[in-house]
Amino acid sequence: MALTEWLTGGKQSESQLDRPIVQGVIETPTTQDISLMNYNNPHDKVQVDNNNVGTFGTLEKMISSNPYFAAGGGLMVLGASFALLKNGVASFANLMYRRMVVDLEIRNSDKSYEWFLNWMSNYKHRVSRQLSVKTTFVQHQNGSVATGFTFVPGPGNHWFKYKKAWFFVKRERSERIHNSGQPMETVTLKTLYKDRYLLASILDEARQMAMKLNEGKTVLYKSWGQDWRIFGKPRKKRVIDSVILDKNIKESILDDIKEFLKSGSWYHNRGIPYRRGYLLYGPPGSGKTSFIQALAGEFDYNIAIMNVGEPNLTDDRLAYLMNNIPEHTILLLEDIDAAFNNRTQSTEKGYVSGVTFSGLLNALDGVASAEEVITFMTTNHPEKLDPALLRPGRIDMKVLINNASDYQVRQMFMRFYDDAEKAEEFMKAFKELELPYVSTAQLQGLFVQFKENPNLAIDNIDILKSPHMNNFFYE
Ligand SMILES: Nc1ncnc2c1ncn2[C@@H]1O[C@H](COP(=O)(O)OP(=O)(O)O)[C@@H](O)[C@H]1O
Ligand SMILES: [Mg+2]
Repeated sequence: MALTEWLTGGKQSESQLDRPIVQGVIETPTTQDISLMNYNNPHDKVQVDNNNVGTFGTLEKMISSNPYFAAGGGLMVLGASFALLKNGVASFANLMYRRMVVDLEIRNSDKSYEWFLNWMSNYKHRVSRQLSVKTTFVQHQNGSVATGFTFVPGPGNHWFKYKKAWFFVKRERSERIHNSGQPMETVTLKTLYKDRYLLASILDEARQMAMKLNEGKTVLYKSWGQDWRIFGKPRKKRVIDSVILDKNIKESILDDIKEFLKSGSWYHNRGIPYRRGYLLYGPPGSGKTSFIQALAGEFDYNIAIMNVGEPNLTDDRLAYLMNNIPEHTILLLEDIDAAFNNRTQSTEKGYVSGVTFSGLLNALDGVASAEEVITFMTTNHPEKLDPALLRPGRIDMKVLINNASDYQVRQMFMRFYDDAEKAEEFMKAFKELELPYVSTAQLQGLFVQFKENPNLAIDNIDILKSPHMNNFFYE
């Protein structure tokens, strides 16, 4: 067939330019011809093969006549086949590995990362030679600090046995930084394919363990870098009855929050962002922070404390943080006036740092969340606040939490000693003092000092004249 002859060049040694190939006509095969020849016409194929043998024959001649090929040819072929074999073995091993081993990667940007590390540090059947110490500390209501250590698996390799299956764990720290400004870390778990279903069960256990740890507790988050980090150990929920506010204040705020939490669909149907802002203002030590803690306990919320005055905080980071509030968490901006009053101060580097006021407003307005957002702000100086902050949508309810009223003094006394007769005595002595004001924190200080004996509290009531008894803060 002319076509195959043309293709394989039956007489290739002779110059094709000198002689026409098929009786003076140069046939150009169409693509269809070629495809027919190669795939559908076995006869052609045979011919091609035959010719290939021929070509191989010439190749052989060429090799033997060429000194370079003659010298290295054998080696080359050998080398090539070894390489092929090696590749084959490697890819076979790879395939077998893929078939038999399951990898699970957990990044530190994911919640389960901490859960898993925590679970593993509490797990008995493990082999870890690289450990990291995690120090936790808590400041209790009374000011005492408790420290604890846990040994979590450090960067490196670890093993553990879980329900008769072995797991290999590799914790790695990367040079890369992710959006939140933290270095990327990953934990990779490997196990045999047949044991893969145990991975889910481990993660579930780890999650349940984390949840149990926080049961009946309020978790505090603080802004850290660009992310929210758990601050200290979760605290015991503060009972709402332990905060004594003036008549009706507690009830009105509680009712407002309840109403808000019920109205999700009302907000969504009207396209209004589902959020509500509260401002508690009043002198220090009147129970603003404590009340917010108690509210969080009451509604089973956590608290994310944002320090707007933090020098490293920028408008962008603030906006990011506000849009990534941990779920079921009250956003708390403490001492909001202070954040903008030392604005003229500059840092050592010579520039004014921190968020701008408009940055704060934008962040507050831009809070977008599928969930409800409850924001609390506190201040000792509401008069210093820019009216723009007090607009509905940013702050919907403003409540004065003042120094102790007579009602509160009596209630505080009763809460500590539960003795109505003594309370009358105490109230009499208190009125005789004619103090211009007394904070609930001061009262608490007195009662804690003489917690066993109401008579001592009455005898030492003069202590209330010294105002600096309020040392109880978060930090
Ligand atoms: N109204 C109150 N009821 C109960 N305890 C109070 C009250 N006010 C202050 N305290 C106590 O005083 C301390 C400081 O209160 P805190 O809530 O930090 O005040 P604020 O945030 O208004 O400055 C806390 O230990 C708290 O228990
Ligand atoms: Mg406070």
